[in-house]
Parts: sequence; structure tokens; C-alpha cells
Amino acid sequence: MYDLIIIGGGPAGYNAADHAGHAGLKTLVIEERALGGVCLNEGCIPTKTLLYSAKIYDYAKHSQDYGVKFENATIDHSFVIDRKAKVIKQLVSGVGAKLKKAGVEVVKAQAVIKERTADGFVVTADGKEYVGKQLLICTGSNPALPPIDGLADSLKSGYALTNREVLELKEIPKDIVIVGGGVIGLEMASYFNSVGSKVYVVEMLNKIAGPIDNEISTMLQKEYAQKGVEFILGAKVTSIKNNAVTYEKDGKLTEIKSDYALVSIGRRARTQGLGLENIGVILERGAIVTNEYGKTNVPGVWAAGDVNGKSMLAHTAYREGEVCINNILGKKDRINYNSIPSVIYTNPEVACVGETEETAKQKGLDVKIQTVTLKYSGRYVAENEHGNGVVKIITDKKHNNIVGVTIIGTYASEMIYGAAMMVETEMRVADVQKLVFPHPTVCEVIREAMFL
Ligand code: NAI
Repeated sequence: MYDLIIIGGGPAGYNAADHAGHAGLKTLVIEERALGGVCLNEGCIPTKTLLYSAKIYDYAKHSQDYGVKFENATIDHSFVIDRKAKVIKQLVSGVGAKLKKAGVEVVKAQAVIKERTADGFVVTADGKEYVGKQLLICTGSNPALPPIDGLADSLKSGYALTNREVLELKEIPKDIVIVGGGVIGLEMASYFNSVGSKVYVVEMLNKIAGPIDNEISTMLQKEYAQKGVEFILGAKVTSIKNNAVTYEKDGKLTEIKSDYALVSIGRRARTQGLGLENIGVILERGAIVTNEYGKTNVPGVWAAGDVNGKSMLAHTAYREGEVCINNILGKKDRINYNSIPSVIYTNPEVACVGETEETAKQKGLDVKIQTVTLKYSGRYVAENEHGNGVVKIITDKKHNNIVGVTIIGTYASEMIYGAAMMVETEMRVADVQKLVFPHPTVCEVIREAMFL
């Protein structure tokens, strides 16, 4: 008998387990694959490992701009892939050690919820039954794979790849078609473009990077178009077969033959086969319905992370897991979804929080919009010979507080948390003006903007 059974050991599950264990709850995590989930094993961390190698390679190729000269920089893709495996191994074992220290038990098997009894929730895994007074579901998400003609066979043949297989390629493809110009598509486009593949991005919408501010997504697209990535926007993929992707644009069908096709058109909550129907958990479009406390409709059943279909980001998952544990422990806690930062780790990086110009207008906010060049920063100029980065700040004129920030440029990923705090705490322009920022840094531009 456990106080808490957590199904899924990704960012939501393992962080929740760590908190629960330290708080004295007898906790069991059931994970069918490796601890760390998609983020650690086939998402955030492996992609960042690849992208860092690509960035060093890019720096090497352009080192002459900074007076550093050497000939013929090369990249060893198989070394990069092996290093990625080493990084994952180290971090996954770190998660295991963390849970052990918190006194959490881990079972490696597929969990199925059997029933609710007077004692609690009965979960089967590896032929055994486990009973928990409370149940936290953190089963994450799978890649969305719609019934596109030929896709199922192309996945089998190895022509079509998801985020998982693309990280295991042994050689650099000559050419790759990326279906979907969202976060995964753009990060992988960045990697393959850096290492020398011909990259096509086929996107259904008329812009890349989904909800990112239009002005910034156009800038990102221009950067990569200049580097040779071919963007095909407003195009619907009709088939992925015979080593080719066919799309329809303006009523015309076009086929691109390539070594591989990466399908990155979103993710779907992983709820099938879990036995949720056995205890009556309500789903909406396949995702578990939760409130801001992480509660489902069934008392004692909680859900956190991608499985609730809300934010699909590892950092949201961490917080959602914590919120569930705090509420289980009787400490009322809720998550604020308004100020969750997000980052695209392209080069230049893009990071944003809060409103964009478009969402502010949709909401009818009366806003001041500033797009300020990062060249106001001495450090940025010193380190970015051809950089065109900007920070875009949206200020609500009524209260003179910052409601949204989007950055494109070096260090955007590291700067955005400061902006997130401004949005979360509804900081006014006058408050930011009084803060002292370190010099020389790129983030100084945010302060500078407060005086413009
Ligand atoms: P996404 O939702 O970011 O982008 C999918 C794109 O595919 C959209 O732009 C959509 O318009 C397009 N699309 C959909 N169907 C299409 C079709 N048939 N043909 C052409 N285009 C089509 O999803 P993505 O990139 O697969 O990422 C999945 C999730 O993983 C996201 O929710 C993201 O937040 C998360 N993620 C986060 C990262 C980060 O925080 N840096 C990195 C990678 C993934």
C-alpha cells in the first residue's frame, strides 16, 4: 500500500516523486521506459546536446570574423550522437539517484489502472498489483501521426522519422524534409542546416514557429532562409511515401525526394491503454481534464505534464507536478499559466513570455509596442559580428506594466526568466527602471528599453 502511485517518470513524475518522497509520502513511480521521460531521453536534453555541437561548428566556420583562423573545421556526427548518449546516461542515472535519496520506489514496467477499491487505486504492472491512496498520472505525450497517405509504411521503412528516431541517425542526411515548422521542426532544421544537409520545412500555416510573435517569427525565417533552409509555407502534406514528401500549395501538388522526412506536427497526450476508463477519468480531445490545482474529476486522481494537454513544456510539467504534491499534502497551490516562458533553441535563439503583439491586440489591450535592437548592448556588438537580434516589449498602457516580452538573439533563453518575473509580478516600467542590471550583458537592453 502506497500513499501515492505516480505513473510516468518524466519531468512531471520524477519531480513530483522527489517532492512527495521528501515530504514523507510512501511513493511509487511506475515507468515503462527510462526515467527522465521524453525530455531527458528524446527531447529537450539530447536536442540541446546536438545543437551545442552544431553551434560550436558554426562558430568554427565563422571564426575568421573574430580574427581566429584555421582551416577545414569538420563535424563528426557519430561522435555527436555518442556524446548525446553519454549525456543522457549521466542525467538519467542522476534522476534515479535523486529518487533513491527521496526514498521513492521505482518499478520499470507498463502500468494499467485496474479499479478503485475501498483501499485505494489498484494499478497493475509487470503482473503485480499495487495499491495507492492517491494516483498521479504523468504519462506525457506521443508524436501526433495523422493518417497521411503512406506515413505508417514510411515510418516502418525508416524514411519517416519522429523526434525519437531523428536523434539516432548514424550519418548526416544529404537532404531532409521537415513536416511542421514548429519547435521540434525548427530546432532540427537548425541542426541539419548547420551540419550541411539540405533542409526543407513544409508548414501548413503561413508562418513558422506557431504562436511566436509574427515579427520575430519572420526574422527567424529570414535568418534561416539566408542560411539555405527552404521554407514552404501554407502547404498541406498529402503523402509521405516512396522516399518523398508530397504537398499541396495553391491547388498544385509538388513532390520532394529526400533521404529522410521528419514528422513534427505536434504531440498528443498519452492516455490510451492506461485504464483511465476503469475509474471514470474525464478526457477532452484525448487529454486528461485538470483544474489549476492539478485535480481531475475523480477525487484522489491527479495529472501533471503533457498528459493534460495544456502547455506541453517540461518546465510547466515540473511546476504542475509540484502543485499536485502540495495540494495532496494539504498546502493549497495553483499554477499560473499566463507567464510560462518558452524557448526555441535555434541559432539565434527565440524566447518569449506573456503577450505577443497579436495576442495583446486580440484581447483588446491598449499597449505600447517596442522593438529594440540588441545592438544597444556593448556585449552583443562585441560578440555578434552579423547579429540582428531584438527584444520586443509589450507594455499595458493602462497600468504601465510589462505584459509580454519576445527576444531573438544570443542568450535569449537565459534572459527570458527575468522577463517572466516581470510579467508574473506585473512589474511596472518605473519598477524596472530602478533595477540595476549587470554590465556588460545583453539583458541590459531590456532596462534600456524602459527609458525609450
Ligand atoms: P508544434 O505544435 O510546435 O508545431 C507543429 C507545427 O506543425 C505547427 O506549426 C503546425 O501548423 C504544423 N502542422 C500540423 N500539421 C501539419 C501538416 N499536416 N503539414 C504541415 N504542417 C503541419 O509541435 P512540435 O514541433 O511537433 O513540438 C511538439 C511539442 O514539443 C510542442 O508542444 C513543443 O512545445 C514541445 N517542444 C518544446 C521544445 C522547447 O521548449 N524548446 C523543443 C521541442 C519540443
